[in-house]
Amino acid sequence: MPSLTDPWKLAHLDVPNRVMLAPLAGIGTWFVRLQAKRYGAGMAVSEMVSSFAIHHGNEKTHQELLRVHPDEATAGPGGVWSPTALQLFGQDPDVMRSAAAFVGEHVPGVDIIDLNMGCPVPKVCKTGAGAALIKDPDTAVAVARAAREGSGLPVTVKLRSGQKPGDTDGYALAHRLVDEAGVAAIAFHPRSAAVQHKGVPDYDLAARLVQSLGAPVILTGGLRTPAEIVRAYEHTGVEAVMLARGILGNPWLFGQLLGLRDMLDAPSATEVLDELDWTIDRCVEHLGPERAGRYLRKCYPWYVDRLALEPAVAKRVQAALQQTEDVAGARAVLAPLRPLAAAA
Ligand SMILES: Cc1cc2nc3c(=O)[nH]c(=O)nc-3n(C[C@H](O)[C@H](O)[C@H](O)COP(=O)(O)O)c2cc1C
Repeated sequence: MPSLTDPWKLAHLDVPNRVMLAPLAGIGTWFVRLQAKRYGAGMAVSEMVSSFAIHHGNEKTHQELLRVHPDEATAGPGGVWSPTALQLFGQDPDVMRSAAAFVGEHVPGVDIIDLNMGCPVPKVCKTGAGAALIKDPDTAVAVARAAREGSGLPVTVKLRSGQKPGDTDGYALAHRLVDEAGVAAIAFHPRSAAVQHKGVPDYDLAARLVQSLGAPVILTGGLRTPAEIVRAYEHTGVEAVMLARGILGNPWLFGQLLGLRDMLDAPSATEVLDELDWTIDRCVEHLGPERAGRYLRKCYPWYVDRLALEPAVAKRVQAALQQTEDVAGARAVLAPLRPLAAAA
Protein backbone atom coordinates (compact mmCIF):
# COMPACT_ATOMS: atom_id res chain seq x y z
CA MET A 1 0.00 0.00 0.00
CA PRO A 2 1.46 3.41 -0.94
CA SER A 3 2.45 5.83 1.80
CA LEU A 4 0.64 9.18 2.19
CA THR A 5 3.85 10.82 0.94
CA ASP A 6 3.84 8.92 -2.38
CA PRO A 7 2.82 10.72 -5.60
CA TRP A 8 -0.17 9.62 -7.67
CA LYS A 9 -1.81 10.42 -11.00
CA LEU A 10 -5.09 12.27 -11.35
CA ALA A 11 -5.83 12.06 -15.08
CA HIS A 12 -2.57 13.39 -16.63
CA LEU A 13 -1.63 15.39 -13.52
CA ASP A 14 1.10 14.43 -11.04
CA VAL A 15 -0.17 14.95 -7.52
CA PRO A 16 2.89 15.01 -5.25
CA ASN A 17 1.29 13.32 -2.20
CA ARG A 18 -1.99 11.92 -0.86
CA VAL A 19 -3.12 14.55 1.65
CA MET A 20 -5.44 17.23 0.28
CA LEU A 21 -7.43 20.27 1.36
CA ALA A 22 -11.21 19.74 1.08
CA PRO A 23 -13.59 22.37 -0.33
CA LEU A 24 -14.95 24.58 2.47
CA ALA A 25 -17.66 27.12 1.64
CA GLY A 26 -16.92 30.60 2.95
CA ILE A 27 -13.41 29.45 3.93
CA GLY A 28 -11.48 27.93 0.99
CA THR A 29 -10.19 31.16 -0.53
CA TRP A 30 -6.81 31.44 -2.26
CA PHE A 31 -5.07 32.19 1.03
CA VAL A 32 -6.46 29.15 2.85
CA ARG A 33 -5.39 27.02 -0.12
CA LEU A 34 -1.99 28.72 -0.09
CA GLN A 35 -1.67 28.01 3.63
CA ALA A 36 -2.53 24.33 3.10
CA LYS A 37 0.06 24.05 0.34
CA ARG A 38 2.73 25.78 2.46
CA TYR A 39 2.23 23.05 5.04
CA GLY A 40 2.45 20.29 2.44
CA ALA A 41 -1.03 19.64 0.98
CA GLY A 42 -0.60 17.80 -2.33
CA MET A 43 -3.73 19.37 -3.78
CA ALA A 44 -6.24 22.01 -2.68
CA VAL A 45 -9.87 22.49 -3.67
CA SER A 46 -11.62 25.87 -3.61
CA GLU A 47 -14.82 26.65 -1.80
CA MET A 48 -17.90 25.93 -3.91
CA VAL A 49 -18.68 28.51 -6.60
CA SER A 50 -22.03 28.87 -8.36
CA SER A 51 -21.92 27.98 -12.06
CA PHE A 52 -24.83 30.40 -12.54
CA ALA A 53 -22.88 33.28 -10.93
CA ILE A 54 -19.98 32.66 -13.30
CA HIS A 55 -22.26 32.29 -16.32
CA HIS A 56 -24.15 35.52 -15.51
CA GLY A 57 -20.95 37.48 -14.81
CA ASN A 58 -21.57 38.14 -11.10
CA GLU A 59 -18.86 40.65 -10.21
CA LYS A 60 -18.12 39.49 -6.66
CA THR A 61 -17.87 35.87 -7.79
CA HIS A 62 -15.50 36.75 -10.59
CA GLN A 63 -13.29 39.04 -8.49
CA GLU A 64 -13.16 37.09 -5.25
CA LEU A 65 -14.07 33.44 -5.74
CA LEU A 66 -12.26 32.91 -9.03
CA ARG A 67 -9.03 34.36 -7.66
CA VAL A 68 -6.06 31.97 -7.74
CA HIS A 69 -2.77 33.25 -6.31
CA PRO A 70 0.24 32.79 -8.61
CA ASP A 71 2.17 31.12 -5.74
CA GLU A 72 -0.45 28.44 -5.07
CA ALA A 73 1.02 25.93 -7.53
CA THR A 74 4.52 25.92 -6.04
CA ALA A 75 3.96 26.95 -2.41
CA GLY A 76 4.73 23.44 -1.13
CA PRO A 77 7.96 22.36 0.56
CA GLY A 78 10.82 22.52 -1.96
CA GLY A 79 8.65 24.45 -4.42
CA VAL A 80 7.23 21.22 -5.80
CA TRP A 81 4.26 21.72 -8.17
CA SER A 82 0.80 20.71 -6.93
CA PRO A 83 -2.64 21.10 -8.53
CA THR A 84 -5.50 23.38 -7.55
CA ALA A 85 -9.14 22.44 -8.16
CA LEU A 86 -12.02 24.87 -8.46
CA GLN A 87 -15.30 23.48 -7.16
CA LEU A 88 -18.47 24.39 -9.07
CA PHE A 89 -22.08 23.66 -8.24
CA GLY A 90 -25.22 23.77 -10.34
CA GLN A 91 -27.79 21.48 -11.91
CA ASP A 92 -28.06 22.92 -15.43
CA PRO A 93 -25.73 21.22 -17.94
CA ASP A 94 -25.68 24.19 -20.36
CA VAL A 95 -24.88 26.69 -17.62
CA MET A 96 -22.23 24.31 -16.26
CA ARG A 97 -20.67 23.98 -19.71
CA SER A 98 -20.48 27.76 -20.05
CA ALA A 99 -19.08 28.31 -16.52
CA ALA A 100 -16.52 25.53 -16.91
CA ALA A 101 -15.46 26.91 -20.31
CA PHE A 102 -14.95 30.34 -18.73
CA VAL A 103 -12.80 28.84 -15.97
CA GLY A 104 -10.78 26.72 -18.41
CA GLU A 105 -10.08 29.72 -20.60
CA HIS A 106 -9.83 32.68 -18.23
CA VAL A 107 -8.73 31.48 -14.79
CA PRO A 108 -5.04 30.56 -14.89
CA GLY A 109 -3.92 28.29 -12.08
CA VAL A 110 -7.02 26.06 -12.10
CA ASP A 111 -5.94 22.53 -13.05
CA ILE A 112 -9.11 20.59 -12.23
CA ILE A 113 -12.84 21.26 -12.03
CA ASP A 114 -14.44 19.60 -9.02
CA LEU A 115 -18.23 19.31 -8.97
CA ASN A 116 -20.29 19.53 -5.82
CA MET A 117 -22.86 16.75 -5.60
CA GLY A 118 -22.78 16.50 -1.82
CA CYS A 119 -23.88 19.83 -0.35
CA PRO A 120 -26.87 19.13 1.93
CA VAL A 121 -27.85 22.79 2.51
CA PRO A 122 -31.57 23.30 1.61
CA LYS A 123 -30.82 26.56 -0.28
CA VAL A 124 -28.63 24.57 -2.70
CA CYS A 125 -30.62 21.30 -2.79
CA LYS A 126 -33.97 22.94 -3.51
CA THR A 127 -32.57 24.17 -6.83
CA GLY A 128 -31.69 20.56 -7.71
CA ALA A 129 -27.94 21.10 -7.16
CA GLY A 130 -25.55 19.70 -4.53
CA ALA A 131 -26.70 16.44 -2.91
CA ALA A 132 -30.05 16.67 -4.77
CA LEU A 133 -28.18 15.50 -7.89
CA ILE A 134 -27.69 12.10 -6.25
CA LYS A 135 -31.46 11.60 -6.71
CA ASP A 136 -31.25 12.68 -10.35
CA PRO A 137 -28.40 10.61 -11.81
CA ASP A 138 -29.15 11.37 -15.47
CA THR A 139 -28.80 15.10 -14.84
CA ALA A 140 -25.73 14.49 -12.68
CA VAL A 141 -24.04 12.64 -15.54
CA ALA A 142 -25.01 15.37 -18.03
CA VAL A 143 -23.63 18.10 -15.72
CA ALA A 144 -20.32 16.25 -15.29
CA ARG A 145 -19.98 15.63 -19.01
CA ALA A 146 -20.72 19.29 -19.73
CA ALA A 147 -18.07 20.43 -17.22
CA ARG A 148 -15.44 18.17 -18.82
CA GLU A 149 -16.28 19.10 -22.39
CA GLY A 150 -16.66 22.80 -21.57
CA SER A 151 -13.44 23.23 -19.60
CA GLY A 152 -11.14 20.73 -21.32
CA LEU A 153 -9.82 20.03 -17.79
CA PRO A 154 -10.02 16.84 -15.73
CA VAL A 155 -13.25 16.75 -13.74
CA THR A 156 -13.67 15.22 -10.29
CA VAL A 157 -16.93 14.90 -8.37
CA LYS A 158 -17.42 15.12 -4.62
CA LEU A 159 -20.48 13.28 -3.40
CA ARG A 160 -22.08 11.55 -0.46
CA SER A 161 -23.29 8.00 0.10
CA GLY A 162 -26.91 9.05 -0.41
CA GLN A 163 -29.77 11.16 0.93
CA LYS A 164 -30.66 9.20 4.06
CA PRO A 165 -28.64 6.97 6.39
CA GLY A 166 -28.28 3.56 4.76
CA ASP A 167 -28.83 4.84 1.19
CA THR A 168 -26.15 3.96 -1.33
CA ASP A 169 -27.32 5.90 -4.42
CA GLY A 170 -24.15 8.00 -4.20
CA TYR A 171 -22.11 4.81 -4.52
CA ALA A 172 -24.08 3.86 -7.65
CA LEU A 173 -23.84 7.37 -9.12
CA ALA A 174 -20.04 7.38 -8.68
CA HIS A 175 -19.83 4.45 -11.13
CA ARG A 176 -22.02 6.18 -13.72
CA LEU A 177 -20.02 9.42 -13.44
CA VAL A 178 -16.79 7.58 -14.18
CA ASP A 179 -18.14 5.22 -16.85
CA GLU A 180 -20.48 7.60 -18.71
CA ALA A 181 -19.11 11.11 -18.07
CA GLY A 182 -15.36 10.40 -17.95
CA VAL A 183 -14.92 11.75 -14.42
CA ALA A 184 -11.26 11.36 -13.38
CA ALA A 185 -11.72 10.74 -9.64
CA ILE A 186 -14.43 10.66 -6.99
CA ALA A 187 -14.14 12.39 -3.63
CA PHE A 188 -16.40 10.29 -1.43
CA HIS A 189 -18.00 11.50 1.81
CA PRO A 190 -19.62 8.33 3.18
CA ARG A 191 -22.24 10.11 5.27
CA SER A 192 -25.78 10.75 4.05
CA ALA A 193 -26.95 14.29 3.25
CA ALA A 194 -29.52 13.99 6.06
CA VAL A 195 -26.85 13.87 8.79
CA GLN A 196 -24.93 16.80 7.24
CA HIS A 197 -21.55 16.61 9.00
CA LYS A 198 -22.48 14.54 12.05
CA GLY A 199 -22.06 10.87 12.81
CA VAL A 200 -19.54 8.21 11.90
CA PRO A 201 -18.72 7.93 8.19
CA ASP A 202 -19.21 4.52 6.58
CA TYR A 203 -15.61 3.69 5.73
CA ASP A 204 -16.62 0.13 4.72
CA LEU A 205 -18.74 1.60 1.91
CA ALA A 206 -15.74 3.72 0.84
CA ALA A 207 -13.60 0.56 0.78
CA ARG A 208 -16.20 -1.14 -1.46
CA LEU A 209 -16.15 1.85 -3.80
CA VAL A 210 -12.34 1.63 -4.04
CA GLN A 211 -12.66 -2.06 -5.00
CA SER A 212 -15.26 -1.51 -7.71
CA LEU A 213 -14.63 1.94 -9.25
CA GLY A 214 -12.50 2.33 -12.36
CA ALA A 215 -10.98 5.60 -11.07
CA PRO A 216 -9.22 6.87 -7.94
CA VAL A 217 -11.31 7.45 -4.79
CA ILE A 218 -10.47 10.29 -2.40
CA LEU A 219 -11.85 9.95 1.14
CA THR A 220 -13.40 12.78 3.15
CA GLY A 221 -15.30 12.74 6.43
CA GLY A 222 -14.29 12.37 10.07
CA LEU A 223 -10.60 12.93 9.40
CA ARG A 224 -9.34 14.90 12.42
CA THR A 225 -6.28 13.41 14.10
CA PRO A 226 -3.18 11.86 12.50
CA ALA A 227 -3.93 8.42 13.98
CA GLU A 228 -7.59 8.51 12.83
CA ILE A 229 -6.59 9.59 9.34
CA VAL A 230 -3.92 6.92 8.87
CA ARG A 231 -6.39 4.28 10.13
CA ALA A 232 -9.10 5.41 7.67
CA TYR A 233 -6.59 5.58 4.79
CA GLU A 234 -5.36 2.05 5.46
CA HIS A 235 -8.84 0.62 6.11
CA THR A 236 -10.37 1.96 2.90
CA GLY A 237 -7.42 1.70 0.50
CA VAL A 238 -8.31 5.07 -1.04
CA GLU A 239 -5.91 6.94 -3.28
CA ALA A 240 -5.83 10.04 -1.05
CA VAL A 241 -7.44 11.70 1.96
CA MET A 242 -9.10 15.11 2.00
CA LEU A 243 -9.02 17.14 5.25
CA ALA A 244 -11.78 19.55 6.20
CA ARG A 245 -12.68 20.63 9.77
CA GLY A 246 -9.48 19.02 11.06
CA ILE A 247 -7.31 21.71 9.49
CA LEU A 248 -9.25 24.78 10.60
CA GLY A 249 -6.59 26.79 12.42
CA ASN A 250 -4.45 23.65 12.27
CA PRO A 251 -2.49 23.49 9.01
CA TRP A 252 0.24 21.61 10.95
CA LEU A 253 -1.90 18.49 10.48
CA PHE A 254 -0.71 18.30 6.85
CA GLY A 255 2.94 18.25 7.96
CA GLN A 256 2.24 15.70 10.71
CA LEU A 257 0.76 13.30 8.15
CA LEU A 258 3.52 13.88 5.62
CA GLY A 259 6.45 13.31 7.97
CA LEU A 260 7.41 16.99 7.92
CA ARG A 261 6.65 17.21 11.62
CA ASP A 262 6.33 14.62 14.38
CA MET A 263 2.74 13.36 14.67
CA LEU A 264 2.67 14.25 18.38
CA ASP A 265 4.34 17.66 17.95
CA ALA A 266 1.57 20.21 18.52
CA PRO A 267 2.34 23.78 17.38
CA SER A 268 3.72 26.13 20.02
CA ALA A 269 1.70 29.22 21.00
CA THR A 270 4.20 31.37 19.11
CA GLU A 271 3.71 29.30 15.95
CA VAL A 272 -0.06 29.63 16.30
CA LEU A 273 0.13 33.42 16.76
CA ASP A 274 2.55 33.74 13.81
CA GLU A 275 0.17 31.75 11.61
CA LEU A 276 -2.79 33.85 12.70
CA ASP A 277 -0.77 36.97 11.82
CA TRP A 278 -0.06 35.52 8.37
CA THR A 279 -3.77 34.80 7.92
CA ILE A 280 -4.75 38.33 8.94
CA ASP A 281 -2.26 39.83 6.46
CA ARG A 282 -3.47 37.64 3.60
CA CYS A 283 -7.11 38.33 4.40
CA VAL A 284 -6.44 42.09 4.28
CA GLU A 285 -4.76 41.55 0.92
CA HIS A 286 -7.91 39.74 -0.25
CA LEU A 287 -10.71 41.90 1.18
CA GLY A 288 -9.15 45.14 2.40
CA PRO A 289 -8.81 46.01 6.10
CA GLU A 290 -12.46 46.76 6.84
CA ARG A 291 -14.11 43.69 5.36
CA ALA A 292 -11.22 41.52 6.58
CA GLY A 293 -11.92 42.70 10.13
CA ARG A 294 -15.44 41.31 9.98
CA TYR A 295 -14.57 38.19 7.93
CA LEU A 296 -11.79 37.12 10.30
CA ARG A 297 -14.12 36.88 13.30
CA LYS A 298 -15.03 33.34 12.23
CA CYS A 299 -11.34 32.36 12.06
CA TYR A 300 -10.12 33.69 15.43
CA PRO A 301 -11.70 30.91 17.56
CA TRP A 302 -9.91 28.20 15.57
CA TYR A 303 -6.52 29.68 16.45
CA VAL A 304 -7.23 30.92 19.99
CA ASP A 305 -8.46 27.41 20.91
CA ARG A 306 -4.94 26.13 20.14
CA LEU A 307 -3.12 28.57 22.40
CA ALA A 308 -3.70 26.46 25.54
CA LEU A 309 -4.70 29.58 27.49
CA GLU A 310 -6.27 29.36 30.92
CA PRO A 311 -10.05 28.99 30.38
CA ALA A 312 -10.92 32.42 31.84
CA VAL A 313 -8.26 34.16 29.70
CA ALA A 314 -9.33 32.24 26.60
CA LYS A 315 -12.96 33.25 27.15
CA ARG A 316 -12.03 36.92 27.55
CA VAL A 317 -9.79 36.89 24.44
CA GLN A 318 -12.42 35.12 22.32
CA ALA A 319 -15.11 37.60 23.40
CA ALA A 320 -12.83 40.61 22.78
CA LEU A 321 -11.96 39.37 19.28
CA GLN A 322 -15.64 38.98 18.41
CA GLN A 323 -16.16 42.64 19.35
CA THR A 324 -13.42 43.92 17.02
CA GLU A 325 -14.45 46.01 14.02
CA ASP A 326 -11.12 45.91 12.18
CA VAL A 327 -7.83 44.06 12.12
CA ALA A 328 -6.04 46.79 14.11
CA GLY A 329 -8.46 46.05 16.97
CA ALA A 330 -7.76 42.33 16.68
CA ARG A 331 -4.01 42.87 16.70
CA ALA A 332 -4.38 44.97 19.87
CA VAL A 333 -6.21 42.06 21.57
CA LEU A 334 -3.59 39.55 20.42
CA ALA A 335 -0.44 41.58 21.21
CA PRO A 336 -0.43 40.95 25.00
CA LEU A 337 -0.50 37.20 24.30
CA ARG A 338 2.93 37.31 22.67
CA PRO A 339 4.98 37.48 25.91
CA LEU A 340 2.80 34.71 27.42
CA ALA A 341 3.41 32.59 24.33
CA ALA A 342 7.16 33.21 24.39
CA ALA A 343 7.34 32.24 28.08
CA ALA A 344 5.30 29.05 27.59
C1 LIG B 1 -17.91 24.93 7.02
C2 LIG B 1 -17.93 23.85 5.98
C3 LIG B 1 -18.03 24.19 4.64
C4 LIG B 1 -18.05 23.19 3.67
N1 LIG B 1 -18.12 23.54 2.36
C5 LIG B 1 -18.09 22.60 1.38
C6 LIG B 1 -18.10 22.96 0.01
O1 LIG B 1 -18.10 24.15 -0.36
N2 LIG B 1 -18.10 21.96 -0.90
C7 LIG B 1 -18.07 20.62 -0.54
O2 LIG B 1 -18.06 19.75 -1.41
N3 LIG B 1 -18.04 20.26 0.75
C8 LIG B 1 -18.03 21.21 1.72
N4 LIG B 1 -17.96 20.84 3.03
C9 LIG B 1 -17.75 19.42 3.38
C10 LIG B 1 -16.25 19.15 3.61
O3 LIG B 1 -15.50 19.34 2.44
C11 LIG B 1 -16.01 17.73 4.14
O4 LIG B 1 -16.36 16.80 3.15
C12 LIG B 1 -16.82 17.46 5.41
O5 LIG B 1 -16.63 18.52 6.35
C13 LIG B 1 -16.43 16.14 6.05
O6 LIG B 1 -15.12 16.15 6.50
P1 LIG B 1 -14.76 16.33 8.08
O7 LIG B 1 -15.72 15.42 8.82
O8 LIG B 1 -13.31 15.85 8.14
O9 LIG B 1 -14.93 17.75 8.40
C14 LIG B 1 -17.97 21.81 4.03
C15 LIG B 1 -17.89 21.48 5.39
C16 LIG B 1 -17.86 22.47 6.37
C17 LIG B 1 -17.74 22.07 7.80
